[in-house]
Amino acid sequence: MATPTIDSIDGAPNRQRGSEYIRRRRRSAWGRAREAIKSALPDPVVFAIRKAKVGRQRLKLIQVPAVPQFVDVVHDASFQRSVREIKYITQFDTPRLANLWQLCRMSEPGGTILEVGVHRGATAIHLMNCQPNAKFFLADTFSQVNRDEVMSRLDSKRRNLTVLTGVFPDSDRLALVQEISFAHIDVVVYDSCQRSLEYVSQRCRSSAVIVVNDCLRHPLGVTEAVCDFLDTHHPEWIALPIYPAQAVLVRRDGQHTFARLGRSVDIAARSDCYRMPTFGTKADPLPVS
Ligand SMILES: C[S@@+](CC[C@H](N)C(=O)[O-])C[C@H]1O[C@@H](n2cnc3c(N)ncnc32)[C@H](O)[C@@H]1O
Repeated sequence: MATPTIDSIDGAPNRQRGSEYIRRRRRSAWGRAREAIKSALPDPVVFAIRKAKVGRQRLKLIQVPAVPQFVDVVHDASFQRSVREIKYITQFDTPRLANLWQLCRMSEPGGTILEVGVHRGATAIHLMNCQPNAKFFLADTFSQVNRDEVMSRLDSKRRNLTVLTGVFPDSDRLALVQEISFAHIDVVVYDSCQRSLEYVSQRCRSSAVIVVNDCLRHPLGVTEAVCDFLDTHHPEWIALPIYPAQAVLVRRDGQHTFARLGRSVDIAARSDCYRMPTFGTKADPLPVS
């Protein structure tokens, strides 16, 4: 079977151009001023500026926006509480947070949950809210953030938590990461993603679900890493793109709960809590005209 390819990737030269762009931006007076202003602004102000910027892009690019009214997960009160808790410290949008929530929820109970790329701790907290009783491994260099601030944010959740500080997977010096049932890899660049995927795939349960952030979006290092991983691990592993900009990786041995959507939905309970119409269900069939 043909391996997936991404035509627009032209490998190393692209990566060099990208890092040169970032270096130049960090060196320029305007770039430094922007960083300084951003770090001085309170999180809700940064959030409001981002919302305005994204609003303009949305008008141009999204011709038909999603209608959230009857989407199950956004009516889940615990999901909404979790999003409210992290919305000022993350760049994740609601669809990606919803994907994480649902996929993490349906992962096999009793396994460990790993996040590589914690940064300010937002998606880690979201996953801890989703599976409060699970055992967590969180890996980051913490070189771009105030580690103490992030640690106190994470510790305040009082979960079963091990933090691996340094470059993953080298930071797992005692080989503690085992029996992974759910992994979230959010590391932006090729090398980190490629090494994390190799490491995680050797240490996870056969039912494991791996979500990779920033897949099929610019910059394309993560997409390259996923494609390279599949080149060597296909057909054992498959990757499915999920909008916007994530990929979900699962083994094809039929073991993963992902193959089912979990328990069948409780139609009566759902329709009570947010008046979801029940027509077209087993209990309330619609005649075919
Ligand atoms: C986009 S941020 C993660 C954002 C986070 N998931 C959130 O809540 O939105 C990417 C993080 O990955 C970390 N990172 C990249 N490569 C890494 C590696 N090999 N080992 C550990 N951390 C890494 C960076 O330090 C950075 O904090």
